[in-house]
Formats: sequence, structure tokens, C-alpha cells
Amino acid sequence: MSVERDTASAPRGGVPKPGNAGPGAPRSAAPAGAARPLPARPAGLAAALAAEAPVLDVRNLAAWYFTDEGTVKAVDGVGFKLGKGKTLGLVGESGCGKTATGLAVLGLLPPPGRVVRGEAVLGRRDLLRMPEADLAAMRGRDIAMIFQEPMSALDPLMTAGEQIAECLEMHTALDRRERAEKAVELLASVGVPEPALRAKAWPHELSGGMRQRVVIAMALACDPKVVIADEPTTALDVTVQAQILDLIEDTQERTGMGVILVTHDLAAVAQAADEVAVMYAGVLVETGPVKDVYAHPAHPYTKALLGSIPVVGQAARQLVTIPGRVPNLARLPSGCRFADRCPLAESACRAVEPDLVDLGAGRRVRCILATGRAAR
Ligand SMILES: Nc1ncnc2c1ncn2[C@@H]1O[C@H](COP(=O)(O)OP(=O)(O)OP(=O)(O)O)[C@@H](O)[C@H]1O
Ligand code: SF4
Ligand SMILES: [Mg+2]
Repeated sequence: MSVERDTASAPRGGVPKPGNAGPGAPRSAAPAGAARPLPARPAGLAAALAAEAPVLDVRNLAAWYFTDEGTVKAVDGVGFKLGKGKTLGLVGESGCGKTATGLAVLGLLPPPGRVVRGEAVLGRRDLLRMPEADLAAMRGRDIAMIFQEPMSALDPLMTAGEQIAECLEMHTALDRRERAEKAVELLASVGVPEPALRAKAWPHELSGGMRQRVVIAMALACDPKVVIADEPTTALDVTVQAQILDLIEDTQERTGMGVILVTHDLAAVAQAADEVAVMYAGVLVETGPVKDVYAHPAHPYTKALLGSIPVVGQAARQLVTIPGRVPNLARLPSGCRFADRCPLAESACRAVEPDLVDLGAGRRVRCILATGRAAR
């Protein structure tokens, strides 16, 4: 077994500041449920590409908010690899740091947030140590984000078509007419009815679902290598959710795009993701192939999350609440962050924070009972 250690270091300089977010970025979260049995993602090109180097390699990322009330350690030593053509499902309760992880990778963490350590290597370049101008040029073209709040990602003074065309203008050689045509094509591909008409609509004239589709079209416009999709389908009805996930998967098969799917919807992860990363209070507590983790969750938090999925035939799509609350990230408890809510907690759990231990077969878990004390 090997261990991933969270090596604290002093805040460093050169961290990109939030600024012009580029295409698919904001000019400024809701649980769903699932049904058993959970279908596995079919093997295909994505599986064949798995052996290649990761398209995105995030290492020991820490991103904190420096507030008057204290330092909110929203992301506190997160690491994962995203394979070409693969989907990583990032799950966890509200406030665990999922969005902060995505924003940090893109250099879009708003003040008082700041990346304090880590790397996010895309291709051969560390996004976290890149001049803002270079990073801005990569957003949309190489890495894009579908934001949780579609309205905040759209410019109210530009039509839907103009916003998509703007992404294309920044990153392609298409002329004005071709960009306008491509924008309509993209709107059609994300299931917007009467796309030529909708391309001329202002954001406020579109429903929430339509706005979300425009944001998705913007993110996919330039075939980025990586898309961070933050609750991309929450605002959409179930049929459209499935359409959007299919569209993302088709794009992956075609271009080898890697996707980080941030969601509360564990069924969507089972359907669309290859790997799952379970986040709790700023850290990953369990990662691994979706099928294996869902069949045999090792961490008590993962078990609780999966145990709260509604069964087939139940109408409710909300996750059942796990007793207690995510701890205040500005005043973290000593030892295991889940101890106050864990039915298996014992005194040793509160002594030292467990490491994320590699169990082999692509699985990692942060729990002394799951890994055995000898492994620590
Ligand atoms: N601008 C901010 N200033 C201070 N703290 C913040 C700020 N934005 C987020 N936080 C805190 O950072 C932590 C992580 O927030 P984040 O939005 O990443 O959670 P999340 O996992 O995406 O939750 P959700 O599922 O509700 O979207 C939370 O404790 C949140 O309160
Ligand atoms: S380390 Fe202890 S408290 Fe934490 S999840 Fe494992 S058993 Fe529960
Ligand atoms: Mg969020």
C-alpha cells in the first residue's frame, strides 16, 4: 500500500487571479437521487485511452478562503488524475469543496479565495503557475467549466448566439458567418428547439434549462481537452439530463475530452463516470472505479452517501440526510474530519488525521478502520 500525504507548505506567489474568465466562465448547488441497479458505462474508445498519461493531473491542491472569521480550508490537499476520454465523478455534500476545486484548477477562485499549494498539470503545463494571460487563452480552448449557476456565466447584454460565437472567435479561424452557423449547430446539438431563433434570444428571454444548454454549448464549442461540469444538469428535467450526459459522452468518444462531473446525483455518476472521487470537508475520502466503489464502498461516508440513494420505484430524488453536518471548514476538528458523524468512530480516529491510503486496484481511502492501522 502507498500513502498520499498532505504536505502543508506556505502560501506561494504567482497564483493566477480571477479575471476575465474566457468562454464558459462566469462573469461573476441541489441533490438528486438515483435508482438501483446502477448501470455501468459501456467500454469503448474511452477504455482504450485509459492507459495513456492523464490529461489532467491535480496534485495536493489546497485552496483556502481567507475570511475575517478565519481561514476556510475549502480544498485542503486534493489530488486526482483524469484520463483522456474519461469521466471522474466528484461527489459530496454541499459545502465540501467541489466547486472550489474546479474554480481553483481554472484560476477562477474569487477573493478572498487563493490557491495556497498544489499543481494542476494539463498537457505539460501547470495551470496554477501560469501567467493569467496564458491561462485565459487556455480557458475554453483547452479546459472549460460548465458553471453551477448558468445566469452568472452569461453576459446579459449578448444574445445566446453571440456568446457562443465569441468563444469560437477567440479560439478558431472561422469567419463571422461560419461562427454564427456553428453557434446554431451547437445549440441544436444540446437540444435547443428552434436553435436559429434561440440564437437571437437574450439570456433573460430563455428559461433556466435553455440557459444551461447555452452554457454547455459554449463549454463544448472548441472541443476542450477537459471540461469541469459543475452540476451541469441540475436545472434540467430528467429527459434533458440524459440527453446532455449522452452529448458529453459522444463528445468524449469523438475528441477524447476528459470530464470532471461535479454532482450530487450518484446515479448520474454511475451512468456517466468511470471513476468516482468522494469529497468530505475539503479532502478526498475515497476514490476508485465507480463500479468497485459502488459495489464495495470502503469509507463510512461513502457508505452513508450510497445508502441514501432511493431505490427503484421511489418517487423521491433527494438524498437522505446523513445525521450531523459537515464541519466548519475554518475550525476543523482534530483527527478524522468525519469523526463527529461516523458510527464507527473511536478515540484513535480523533488523534491524527488519516492519510489517503492506496489500496491497490485504483482505490484509495482515508479511514483507519478501512485501511488498518498497520497501513498508516
Ligand atoms: N467566497 C467565499 N468566501 C468564503 N467562503 C467560501 C466562499 N465560497 C465558498 N466558500 C466556502 O468554501 C467551502 C466550499 O464551498 P464549495 O462551493 O466549493 O462547496 P460545494 O461542495 O461546491 O457545495 P455545493 O454542493 O453546495 O455546490 C464552503 O464551506 C463554503 O462556505
Ligand atoms: S477514521 Fe474513524 S471516524 Fe474516520 S471514517 Fe474511519 S472509522 Fe470513521
Ligand atoms: Mg458547488
